[in-house]
Amino acid sequence: MCDVNENVSFPLFRLKHMKICCIGAGYVGGPTMAMIAKQCPDIPVHVVDLNQERIDAWNSDHLPIYEPGLDEVVKEARGRNLTFSTRVDDAIQEADIIFISVNTPTKTFGIGAGRAANLEFIEKCARQIAKNAKGHKIVVEKSTLPVRTAEAVKRILSSECSGATFDVLSNPEFLAEGTAIDDLLNPDRVLIGGESEDAIETLCSVYARWISREQILTTNLWSSELSKLTANAFLAQRVSSINAMSALCEETGADIDEVARAIGSDSRIGPKFLKASVGFGGSCFQKDILNLVYLCEHFGLREVANYWEQVVVMNDYQKRRFSEDIVKTMFNTVSDKKIGIWGFAFKKDTNDTRESAAIYICRDLLRERARLCIHDPRVPEKQIRQELLLACTDMSGHLTEKDRWLVENNISIANDCYEAADDAHAIAVLTEWDQFKALDFEKVHASMHRPSFLFDGRNLLDQAAMDAIGFEMHSIGKSSNRKNRPSS
Ligand code: NAD
Ligand code: UDX
Repeated sequence: MCDVNENVSFPLFRLKHMKICCIGAGYVGGPTMAMIAKQCPDIPVHVVDLNQERIDAWNSDHLPIYEPGLDEVVKEARGRNLTFSTRVDDAIQEADIIFISVNTPTKTFGIGAGRAANLEFIEKCARQIAKNAKGHKIVVEKSTLPVRTAEAVKRILSSECSGATFDVLSNPEFLAEGTAIDDLLNPDRVLIGGESEDAIETLCSVYARWISREQILTTNLWSSELSKLTANAFLAQRVSSINAMSALCEETGADIDEVARAIGSDSRIGPKFLKASVGFGGSCFQKDILNLVYLCEHFGLREVANYWEQVVVMNDYQKRRFSEDIVKTMFNTVSDKKIGIWGFAFKKDTNDTRESAAIYICRDLLRERARLCIHDPRVPEKQIRQELLLACTDMSGHLTEKDRWLVENNISIANDCYEAADDAHAIAVLTEWDQFKALDFEKVHASMHRPSFLFDGRNLLDQAAMDAIGFEMHSIGKSSNRKNRPSS
């Protein structure tokens, strides 16, 4: 094996001719690189992916992801200094800075299945870079990775003996979906971890085009890698904490929104991320906590692992609790009853459904033989059906005929919320889309069976207004849930 020349001098004058590439044109690679290209018109930015369909979409008027403000940013830079293609080898050869932004899902097989991160795609990228690189390259970990992954990346990069030299930096991404453009434009901070001052400074100089230097934090490699997992664990923990209290509120007559306001006014706690919900979803929180749990177990830190695992346990409980409440409230049976599902994305303003709480609630209601009519403003039918089939499939890849039949026959997709609610016994609000607040609720109510149940999994709608119209409304963390439930 050859040595990686970690501290090779990297003169900053090269900045003038800098080229960037990013491997992985997903929810992070696409928007992040579009923003860099927008803010640095003189730097060519080439985003590459193996997925031809995704690349074609990035080159079209229908981008593969929905994100407010993204279309404008892409339109401004695409064709000027922003390119999308599948030419991975060429992009590596031409670039000075190579971002790796590929997916790092939870392993579904072998050692660590269900917990550890699957680093297969990261390793393949590192090998492809090693094979194609000439001269000096800065390789940037943009994907979220277990702490000390950079060590493995460095070893792989050095395995080809091609004469190329590398610096490896960690630069985790903190954007949240639905607000990605604003998060990228005005981030709380940018984090760069590394060993080479020159490489760190080169990457800093890119972000410094639009972000103040005080907001660019630099650390060692391991702190940077671990900070990303820690940030997601803390954020998810807040959601599980408020959701845990929502269950207690329902038993005691306290109101979770009032409790959140009261504790959030304490400046040490702060008001953000205290919205009780049907449970957190998204591609990151669960995956990253499980990865953290696996790491802690690996280092023999059982108590620490157990502590963080509870955040996921609580989230599973919250999702299950919601679907069970629906069944119990509706006289202990939803069989053959139509339930309108409003929202399927894991949060508003995204078309992403990965790990959405809606998937598991719909699956549980389907298995109770409910007929679900689903509407989401941004999620297509094919994606909804795929997610539900996947949720019904066990770890060994087995899908029962009954589950397949239910997904094929007991799911219909509505063009709007009115259609989803028409002739329904209940509505479940699973995503907090703003447009759901502005509906004609008298019309919705008139089209439903009596009692007209409304299960608000996002505490989105005004309880008093819904009561006045005649809905029987059940929200998260409000005691009416208990009061109106028949005994089983
Ligand atoms: P994604 O699945 O949307 O995109 C990843 C892309 O990488 C896919 O299009 C895939 O085809 C491509 N890819 C995989 N292997 C490849 C290879 N060898 N060569 C070329 N392309 C390859 O994933 P994402 O949501 O963008 O997440 C990427 C990383 O960023 C993950 O580690 C994730 O944890 C992290 N992250 C995600 C978010 C988020 O909000 N989605 C936020 C912060 C960090
Ligand atoms: C998260 C992190 O916020 C972001 O910094 C990281 O880069 C990627 O992971 P994301 O998953 O896109 O971002 O969205 P986020 O706003 O964090 O919401 C995650 C889930 O938690 C959603 O399902 C959301 O509805 C839920 N949530 C969030 C709540 O239920 N209550 C809250 O108060 C906040």
